Amino acid sequence: MTMQPRTDNGPLQQLDQWDDFVATRYRQGKSEEDFRNYKADANPTVTEFYRQNHAFQTLDFVLSKKAEYCGLHRDRQSIWEMAEYLNTLVDDSDPDTDLTQIEHLLQTAEAIRKDGHPRWFILAGFVHDLGKVLCLYGEPQWAVVGDTFPVGCGYSDQIVFPEFFAANPDSKIPEYRTDYGIYEPNCGLDKVHLSFGHDEYIYQATRGYLPEEAQYMLRYHSFYAAHRHGAYRHLMNAQDERMFEWVRKFNQYDLYSKGRERPKTQEILPYYQDLVSEFFPDRIAW
Ligand SMILES: [Fe+2]
Ligand SMILES: [Fe+2]
Repeated sequence: MTMQPRTDNGPLQQLDQWDDFVATRYRQGKSEEDFRNYKADANPTVTEFYRQNHAFQTLDFVLSKKAEYCGLHRDRQSIWEMAEYLNTLVDDSDPDTDLTQIEHLLQTAEAIRKDGHPRWFILAGFVHDLGKVLCLYGEPQWAVVGDTFPVGCGYSDQIVFPEFFAANPDSKIPEYRTDYGIYEPNCGLDKVHLSFGHDEYIYQATRGYLPEEAQYMLRYHSFYAAHRHGAYRHLMNAQDERMFEWVRKFNQYDLYSKGRERPKTQEILPYYQDLVSEFFPDRIAW
């Protein structure tokens, strides 16, 4: 495996290093106490990635990126065109062992399909990481991947590397330091700004075409402090609580489908072409 950085927009050799760290952190059979030792699983590269992510994701930054991307004025492309585009992200990985981005998406979706879940659930698996194209738009790694967390209110100690928030300018603003910060009690997550990344972008691009359960899966799949550790319930409403059951169901496939055999892409492609056209028009706004 070659070790030159694939891009100069962050410390990770490839974005998947973050996904791999999360999967290791939540290895099956690990206890909550083991999880607290997550630092043992983080190499210096991943640690540096979190240092940047926690220092630079401010409320102002999130609002500016939402204004830039979430109006979806950038492009009109099919799901397949975006998947092919995202696939150009792997140039630096080992083609024999590392999955391409499309293979990760297919592998997640196939694991969901094998368990007999509804078609929209399988489709959510297939599109869930397409928002990583943000990296190809030139966004730094810390604005594309990483555990997401609310901005504009106090940071939970259930977020990994909480000590890195000391370098975030928002941590000096008293209004943002309380539990509720700029939000109302149980206002619902739709009103809460999370750190910006691939989750929010794919949610915005696909929300008009997928059922609410799938929208939650896409929007909150990296919000580990909440779906894995129960943090931020004081900002969630009853609908969030109900829908997070689905986010948790989805997370099992995101985390644990990777070790499985390489998907037989050519064989299963027709199924996914059908599935995508069932829910999406030829082109959607990005
Ligand atoms: Fe993801
Ligand atoms: Fe993923």
